[in-house]
Amino acid sequence: MNIELVVNGQPRVALVEENTLLVDLLREQFGLTGSHVGCDTSQCGCCTVHVNGQAVKACTMLAVQADGCDVLTVEGLTPAGSGQTLHPVQQAFSTCHGLQCGFCTPGMIMATVDLLKHCPQPNDEQIREGLSGNLCRCTGYLNIVEAVKVAAQTMRGQP
Ligand code: FES
Ligand code: FES
Repeated sequence: MNIELVVNGQPRVALVEENTLLVDLLREQFGLTGSHVGCDTSQCGCCTVHVNGQAVKACTMLAVQADGCDVLTVEGLTPAGSGQTLHPVQQAFSTCHGLQCGFCTPGMIMATVDLLKHCPQPNDEQIREGLSGNLCRCTGYLNIVEAVKVAAQTMRGQP
């Protein structure tokens, strides 16, 4: 099937099988390998992207379901030419050491951006609940929670 979608602000077309997953389309056809595949049970959240402004695990969605949709991946958080080097959430994960191996990080960041859109001043419980669909095998989550709080402060314009 031919599909048309917008990925990171760019109109894209693709020829996909009916059973092609969105994450495979992004990684294999579009070369957007920031979305990781960390499981085959839809549990890890490493593949999280935004579809029409909502965080979605891209391994749970067929590419054909994204026909006509607006998709944002971690590569599109700081568009080329925007003058930004890192999104405030990316910067906070770096500053707070919210990662070790980094495998979960793109998904964590996309889930965090979505969380902060709906909940700009989350407490620890809200952060843990908001990121409960994303697993990290390295950090023990403490620094991730801290990174989300720092990102939230930055995005609210507070020092
Ligand atoms: Fe694990 Fe999508 S790859 S939830
Ligand atoms: Fe390694 Fe999260 S930093 S899985």
